[in-house]
Amino acid sequence: MSQQKSTNVVWHSATITREKRQELNDHRSAVLWFTGLSGSGKSTLAHAVEDELYKRQGRTFVLDGDNVRHGLCGDLGFSLEDRKENIRRVGEVAKLFTEAGVIVLTAFISPLREDRERVRNILPHGDFIEIYCAASLEVCEGRDVKGLYKKARAGQIPEFTGITSPYEEPVNPELVVNTGGDPLEVSLAHVMRLLEEREIIKAV
Ligand code: ADX
Repeated sequence: MSQQKSTNVVWHSATITREKRQELNDHRSAVLWFTGLSGSGKSTLAHAVEDELYKRQGRTFVLDGDNVRHGLCGDLGFSLEDRKENIRRVGEVAKLFTEAGVIVLTAFISPLREDRERVRNILPHGDFIEIYCAASLEVCEGRDVKGLYKKARAGQIPEFTGITSPYEEPVNPELVVNTGGDPLEVSLAHVMRLLEEREIIKAV
């Protein structure tokens, strides 16, 4: 799927550049890539970070697995091959958002290191901020917000992450948040501090 099939297409450079957009926004753009098991709290944290950034006049957008899979990636299932394509597409969309000057927050299980690294590598150095939402399978399964773990254990959902499909923990993420144990506010504070330290946003 990632093979280039289109020929005779010539890149058109914009006069309004990412740098100009960033100036207007008064913050840098970046991709905050939340990864972790289903039910680990990726979406909850991504939206909490977005709320906080909004309060600080930030231009943001959340790309969420459960939503993107209704449209852009509605043709994809949960085989490792389909997940790879899911992450590839989302990575390309996230890249466009950074060009638009936006801080994009992605909440996808993105279980394979290789797929996450591919996204890191299509972005300029420093733009990809991997945030591991660490919550054990026991905790996620105990929560079972969507009732999917129960179904997976009953054999009703094949290739379910953590049960019958792998999840590879990040080796060297920019941040690990203990979403399995810490209250939301604590994880949120860690993310906001990181964004300030990396000068993506100004410190308040
Ligand atoms: S990813 O692996 O390709 O990154 P993504 O984040 O888009 O996955 O979608 C995960 C969500 O899809 C889960 O939170 C869950 O609600 C739902 N889902 C349905 N089937 C599966 C499955 N087999 N494995 C994991 N999640 C699934």
